[in-house]
Amino acid sequence: MTRFSAARRLLLLSSMSLALVAASGCKPKAGADGEGSGAQSGELVIGAYLSLTGSKADFGIKTQQGALLAIDEANAAGGVGGRPVKLVILDDQGTADEAGNAVTRLIDVEKASAIMGEVSSSLSLVGGRIAQRRGIPMVSPSSTNTQVTEIGNFVFRTCFIDPFQGEVMATFAKEKQGFTRIAVIKDVRNDYSIGLAKSFIETFTKNGGTIVAEESYNEGDTDFSAQLTKIKALDAQALFVPGYYTEVGNLAKNSRRLGLNIPLLGGDGWESPKLREIGGNDIVGSFYSNHFAPDNANEKSSAFIATYTKRWNEPPTALATLGYDATALIIDAMRRAKGEPTPAAIRDALEATKAFPAITGAVTFDANRNPVKPAVVLQVTANGDKFVTEIQPAGAAPAAPAAPVAPAAPAAPGSGAAAAPAGSGSGAAK
Ligand code: PHE
Repeated sequence: MTRFSAARRLLLLSSMSLALVAASGCKPKAGADGEGSGAQSGELVIGAYLSLTGSKADFGIKTQQGALLAIDEANAAGGVGGRPVKLVILDDQGTADEAGNAVTRLIDVEKASAIMGEVSSSLSLVGGRIAQRRGIPMVSPSSTNTQVTEIGNFVFRTCFIDPFQGEVMATFAKEKQGFTRIAVIKDVRNDYSIGLAKSFIETFTKNGGTIVAEESYNEGDTDFSAQLTKIKALDAQALFVPGYYTEVGNLAKNSRRLGLNIPLLGGDGWESPKLREIGGNDIVGSFYSNHFAPDNANEKSSAFIATYTKRWNEPPTALATLGYDATALIIDAMRRAKGEPTPAAIRDALEATKAFPAITGAVTFDANRNPVKPAVVLQVTANGDKFVTEIQPAGAAPAAPAAPVAPAAPAAPGSGAAAAPAGSGSGAAK
C-alpha cells in the first residue's frame, strides 16, 4: 500500500542531525541525561510530509531546508531536555493520496510525536484530518486556507490566513495601484486558490472595484488561451491569479503571447525561483503577497538569513523561513510540555504558545489556532523578487518585540470582517 521506499526517506538528513547531536555531547541513548529511562530519554521524532517532487517540488525542498536548520540548532542546544530530536521527512509528491499515506506512516511506523506539514492547503486538509483523528499535533508551516485549522484542536499553523492575504492584495491593487477593473482566474480544485480568490473578490468589490471575469483552470494546465482571450475583450487593468508557481509562470507566457499585457497579481503560492524560470520576462513587473522578504530584514531576521545562507548557499525564501519557524515552534512546545512530551502534552503546549519569536513574526494563537502576522508585497523583477511594502493586520499589537519593524507604508485599512485573524486573538504581543 505505501510506496515509500527507504530511498524516499531522507535518512541521510536525519543522520546528519544525529551527528550534530553527538558532536554537541547529547547521546541518543537511554538515560543519557540522567532523566529517567525508557521512553523518557529516547529520541523524539518530528514527522514531516512535503512535496519534494512534482510540480510543487520547490515548496517541499525549501521548507525542508528551513526545517533541517531548526533541528540541527535545537540538537546542538541539547535537544529536548537532553533528548535528541529526529526529523523524518516523507515525500508526498504533492498528491492527496501520498499525503495521506505519509501522515499515516509517520504516526504508525515512525512514531512521530508531532507532525510538520504540509505547504499546500489541500494536502494539509488531508493530513490534518488524520493527525486530528489520531491525536497527534500537526503544525502547517504555510497553509493559508481557513479550513485547515478548523479541522480541530490538534491542527495549528505558523502563517497568516487567506482572508487577510486576499484583503492585503485587494487593498494593494485598489489603493496602491489604482486598479478598478480586475479579472480573476483560479485553480478550481485547489482549496487555497478558491479561498484566496474569494477573499480577494470580497474586499475588492467592497472597496468599489469591479471583477470583470472569474475564470478557472486545473493544476497541470499549460494552455490558458481560451480564458485569456475572453479576459482580453473585457478591458481589465490587472489579472489576479491565486495559484502555484508552475501554472502561474505558464499563464504569464500565454497572456503575453496573446497580447494581454496587464500585470498579474497573486499570493504566496507564487513563491519560487521557478516562477521566473518558467514565466521569464513575461512575469516581470507582477506583484504578489508573501510571508517574508529577505530584503526587508530586521535584526532578528538578519541573523537567521546569515546562518541559513551559510548552510544552504542561498538566501531563505518565505517557505524556508516558515519551515524553520514551524519546526522550531514544535521543538519549543516539546520543551514546554508538562511532564512527558507526549503528543497530547505537546498539543497543550502549542496551544499555550505566547509570542513565540518566529522569524516571520511573533506567534500567539487565536481561538482557531491561527497566528496574527504581517504580510509583505513583493514585485517580480529581472533580478529576483523585491520587497515593496509590509502590511500589519488590524489588531496586531503595535511593535511586537519580535515582529519585523513596519516601514512607513500605511497599514491595510483592515477594519472589515476580512481582518478576522486579528479579531479573536489577543494580538501578537506578550
Ligand atoms: N499558502 C499556500 C497554500 O495554502 C502555500 C504556500 C505558502 C505556497 C507560501 C508558497 C509560499 O496552499
